[in-house]
Amino acid sequence: MSSAFSRRRFLQAGTLATGGLLASSRTVVALQSPAIPAPQDAAGSGDRVRFGIVGVGMEGSSLVSAALTLSGVECAGAADLYDGRHTLAKQLTNNPNLPTTRNYHELLDRKDIDCILCAAPDFWHRQIVVDSCKAGKDVYCEKPMSHTVAEGFDMVEAAQQHQRIVQVGSQRVSSALCRKAHELYSSGAIGEVSMVELSLGRNDPTGAWEYPPPFDLSPSTLDWDTWLKDTTKIPFNAERFARWRCWREYGTGVAGDLMVHLLSGMQATLGWNEPPRSAVALGGIFRWKDGRDMPDLHTVLFDYHGVPVYVRLGLSTETPEQARFMGPHGILDTGEFSIAYTHQTGEDNAPSYYDVGFPQPMRNKYEHAWREKHDPAIGQEPISQRVVYSGDDWDDYRPHLWNFFQAVKTRQPVVEDAVFGNHTAIACHMANESYFRKRQVFWDDATQTVKL
Ligand SMILES: NC(=O)c1ccc[n+]([C@@H]2O[C@H](COP(=O)([O-])OP(=O)(O)OC[C@H]3O[C@@H](n4cnc5c(N)ncnc54)[C@H](O)[C@@H]3O)[C@@H](O)[C@H]2O)c1
Repeated sequence: MSSAFSRRRFLQAGTLATGGLLASSRTVVALQSPAIPAPQDAAGSGDRVRFGIVGVGMEGSSLVSAALTLSGVECAGAADLYDGRHTLAKQLTNNPNLPTTRNYHELLDRKDIDCILCAAPDFWHRQIVVDSCKAGKDVYCEKPMSHTVAEGFDMVEAAQQHQRIVQVGSQRVSSALCRKAHELYSSGAIGEVSMVELSLGRNDPTGAWEYPPPFDLSPSTLDWDTWLKDTTKIPFNAERFARWRCWREYGTGVAGDLMVHLLSGMQATLGWNEPPRSAVALGGIFRWKDGRDMPDLHTVLFDYHGVPVYVRLGLSTETPEQARFMGPHGILDTGEFSIAYTHQTGEDNAPSYYDVGFPQPMRNKYEHAWREKHDPAIGQEPISQRVVYSGDDWDDYRPHLWNFFQAVKTRQPVVEDAVFGNHTAIACHMANESYFRKRQVFWDDATQTVKL
């Protein structure tokens, strides 16, 4: 008898054993997000937090728009190497007189700016964060925090040395959903986690970063030489500007772009704050053969103090974004708008199907004894529990920005500081290192480096 058949028989037996056992119940609970005051509730101007934005591209523009929906927060200036984004910053803030510049140091020199939002491409994060900390500014820095492992440690050091608040921008860690997932996990809902699966798939050119460059982009509207920083000097290239994620020199691949969100949510859910011990990756460029050097399919198996964490990121097939936490008492499936918690008893609910290998009298005797001992009383049949918690989009920027701006005022710690952000960034760098070297890589805490 095949094991599939045995399993089917087992399930049927379970149903028969209790005359319709395991009725299932699904409960939907709407989560309440903490209230965030809107601008009309703003305190006097002395109590305002004034920020400067560095990088007003796809992400920076979303950050500015979200920040301006918060109480007591004001955009005091914008820096970008491309002039089109100065126009955009003025439009977003509805302020034609907003000071704009190509040189972000001008924002750092201003005494009336409290903090910086950094939404430049990954390879610029370290420089902007370290310069901001040195200039006495707190910083909200987009994910992934760093572009290399060494850079992350420079950033942690700068934050500590200059006692600056640094919040890394994996916004879901501030969501009501993530908080609920942490509460469920820490109250023992699934028991000790034994495995985590994180996955996301996209299947369209925009999802694969084939963004349309702005029409008027040219060496006269963009400071191309500065944009390149210390990367290979190449002639002006509008595609590199818009699609920098495709190349390792500027970006961190699907790992730093997407996996980092899932890993940050995992750390927040499980209360972990560490790099993985090792990573082994497989992947390739399967679909988007457009000159990129970063994989469009990246699968990774991490070892987090003995717990396997499997991650699948792909740009060729669309699948929902999901983080699944498994333990002996059930499953937590977390997604963008909800968490589904399924409780499992971890116990047999019918005589073992192994008994098909017993001669009939022995089988009867075994099943009879099992039922005597385990069958629930009529009316007390167990109910399989599935509770769905629904909440606001876990990608809403507002709670995460609010947490940052409050910390700027109160000097209380943020939810995703530089140490936390560095740990998830290290995992992404290990995933890339393993992919490019085609072998397992290990974290070496003593030297703070990735070893083969
Ligand atoms: N948290 C999220 O969900 C999320 C989503 C998208 C992007 N991001 C992150 O945000 C960052 C920016 O991504 P993007 O898609 O907005 O990139 P983008 O290319 O659209 O915008 C980046 C902008 O930064 C400017 N810039 C580059 N170097 C600069 C410098 N030295 N000084 C001033 N301006 C400079 C560029 O001119 C450009 O306008 C990346 O790190 C990315 O990973 C985060």
